[in-house]
Amino acid sequence: MNKQTEQFLNTLVQPPKDWATVGKPHPHESAILHVTGEATYTDDIAELHGTLHAALGLSQKAHARVRGIDLEKVKAAPGVRAVFTAADIPGENECGAIIHDDPVLADGLVQYVGQPVFIVVADSHDQARRAARLAVIDYEELPPILTPRDAHAAQSYVLPPMHLSRGEPAVALALAPHKLRGQFDVGGQEQFYLEGQISYAIPKEGRGMHVYCSTQHPSEMQHHIATVLQLASHDVLVECRRMGGGFGGKESQSALWACAAAVAAAKLRRPVKLRADRDDDMMVTGKRHCFAYDYEIGYDDDGRIVAAKIDMISRAGFSADLSGPVATRAVCHFDNAYYLSDVEIHAMCGKTNTQSNTAFRGFGGPQGALAIEYILDDIARNLGRDPLEVRRNNFYGPSDAEGPEARNVTHYGQKVEDNVIHGLVDQLERSSRYQERRRAVAEFNAGSTVLKKGLALTPVKFGISFNVPHLNQAGSLVHVYTDGSVLVNHGGTEMGQGLNTKVAQVVANALGVPLEQVRCTATDTSKIANTSATAASTGSDLNGKAAQDAALQIRARLADVAARHFGVEAATVRFADGLVLAGEQSLPFVELVMKAYLQRVQLWSDGFYSTPKVHWDAKRMHGHPFFYFAYAAAVSEVVIDTLTGEWKLLQADLLYDAGESLNPALDIGQVEGGFIQGMGWLTTEELWWNKDGKLMTHAPSTYKIPAISDCPEAFRTELYANSNVSDTIHRSKAVGEPPLLLPFSVFLAIRDAVSSVGAHRINPPLRAPATSEAILDAVDAVRAATLTQ
Ligand code: MTE
Ligand code: MOS
Repeated sequence: MNKQTEQFLNTLVQPPKDWATVGKPHPHESAILHVTGEATYTDDIAELHGTLHAALGLSQKAHARVRGIDLEKVKAAPGVRAVFTAADIPGENECGAIIHDDPVLADGLVQYVGQPVFIVVADSHDQARRAARLAVIDYEELPPILTPRDAHAAQSYVLPPMHLSRGEPAVALALAPHKLRGQFDVGGQEQFYLEGQISYAIPKEGRGMHVYCSTQHPSEMQHHIATVLQLASHDVLVECRRMGGGFGGKESQSALWACAAAVAAAKLRRPVKLRADRDDDMMVTGKRHCFAYDYEIGYDDDGRIVAAKIDMISRAGFSADLSGPVATRAVCHFDNAYYLSDVEIHAMCGKTNTQSNTAFRGFGGPQGALAIEYILDDIARNLGRDPLEVRRNNFYGPSDAEGPEARNVTHYGQKVEDNVIHGLVDQLERSSRYQERRRAVAEFNAGSTVLKKGLALTPVKFGISFNVPHLNQAGSLVHVYTDGSVLVNHGGTEMGQGLNTKVAQVVANALGVPLEQVRCTATDTSKIANTSATAASTGSDLNGKAAQDAALQIRARLADVAARHFGVEAATVRFADGLVLAGEQSLPFVELVMKAYLQRVQLWSDGFYSTPKVHWDAKRMHGHPFFYFAYAAAVSEVVIDTLTGEWKLLQADLLYDAGESLNPALDIGQVEGGFIQGMGWLTTEELWWNKDGKLMTHAPSTYKIPAISDCPEAFRTELYANSNVSDTIHRSKAVGEPPLLLPFSVFLAIRDAVSSVGAHRINPPLRAPATSEAILDAVDAVRAATLTQ
């Protein structure tokens, strides 16, 4: 253990008292609870007397009409109390996030292998699962569509196609000095939250329903439960203290589990828990969308893109879920950090007979941006230039530039007002010794036939805000008790990212009290109403501001009390280090609180925030969808074995712009975690459906997420010194999703290594994920092309 790690671990046990609250590397508010196992996840909540356990019966066919369901054996199985089908749902059989095309239980038609058809409730979890397999379903099979390209060919979409265009791409393409056309495919990704989907529903008096749910979106769960039970929202309470990871997979898709548990609980008037086994979770729930691209690019001698036409087809699965917004974000991130003068994008959400794909860290942004990085890589090789040089030539122009050559307006019409990509990449190029290592890699490869090294630097620009403007709002509730302790509630959810820690820091800072004095409680729909999902990396931006608003209102009231006490103007009263100060005079915070209470001053407040400036015309795909951009870049160096396709990441240097970071320890954790998670997406994590549409990779035995041993030995993460141009909470920037784009550098470093086999004269057809098989295929293709050249 190095000294730094040791010091940090000590702070977990004994946080230094003198730490300021905002901007310091405070440990995660639940760090000790996490490591001791004391942290309460939904499954750890003490079960009430009489609790029953549910499991789902799943479709075995990808596309079929259900002629009949024989549930006799299920009902007769040991411990079984009840079985429910679509007909038993008291209200609407529907839990779609935006469009109503998502039944809780299939009704007459099954649309993927794994689609829930019935709920079985038993005395134990095991009994319910065993019984669920005993159903005999009579299917009349229909032809399935399984891939996005097949869906596109059949014009089978879950939503109408989307289009964005600027300038005159056709003309610009015709006039371009060089042209490139191609296809590229990237796979999907399972969220693989360590805690699976789970809901625990408890009936309350007068048709009330209390549901503990592992969800990023308690308000939406509340609405869905009300819909399926034919209740009003005020009858339903949804609560989530924390998730063991969500990663987007619990934004909309916790709904099915919440609704199924609630239906069973309402019917039986008993508490019912529905906890998905890992295999069921993977079979039932949607994942990151895989994408297929067809592109035509025009570029000049410097590698500048002068025209871009691209079709993006995603595998939406059987229903719309969040595929529309995911596609929108993909379209809005095709530019990544690059200016595109003349561009035309068509995005299609292919309707396939597979799980309904959904949010996953980056929400389509990674799929949009990966395409252009792949293209720039091709351009660089075609011109015989270093890809970094070509990337630089395409960067957005400085934010203060004006006029037709300014090159700082995105293809969707938003001016880039905070561009730091030039400085950030320059800094990383130096600190990672990119040029020196580029030469070293070339030298190594010249002397090595089997092992080949590769290097790549890729940038990230990521828009922060929900593309749908009205979602950019948040509420909070802050209580100050007479002992000076502070309780904070807000609409955001904690999924490991440290949101509660950051919000507590903000409140402690506003009230000038030590962080230990502030506690965040479970997200609860009866405390804050109509919340947005904790998603789009906006959690701390939105809830931090809302909590600050509440805290500042309380502070203003306290300042009045203090001003009277000290005989000064309220504006001169300061709150710091647990004291209330005015000139030479001071009073402990707790004493002022007691004075205020005795004077009948309100010691709690609500708070609210809505993001300014954002607007979006969805039809034209034009507007100002993002409050600001987060920037980053990464350099990765890999070595591959050209005989086996094995590879290893040797070194990664990451530089991330978190603005004025609220908490550098949490932010660095997010950057490293996002990087490794994205590396998994682009390398080892392969989702594979058989010809009948059954997902065969539905457990860790067949689906390989990165492990600690996959982290590079040299892993250097730094935060870029910057301040947010936009007025965010303490001028910080979001950090949740953008790091997921950093491992483009890993994928392109692997491609660089493969390319060295053909002396960098051939563009390796490397698909993503770059599994060992994919790497070998690409090596073979490059070798074959070299022979015929
Ligand atoms: N970090 C952890 N540890 N666990 C998670 O589930 N989800 C990611 C990211 N980081 C996630 C995470 C996703 S998809 C998002 S949108 C953001 O956290 C949400 O939290 P924030 O908005 O508070 O950053
Ligand atoms: Mo994150 S994909 O926006 O939940």
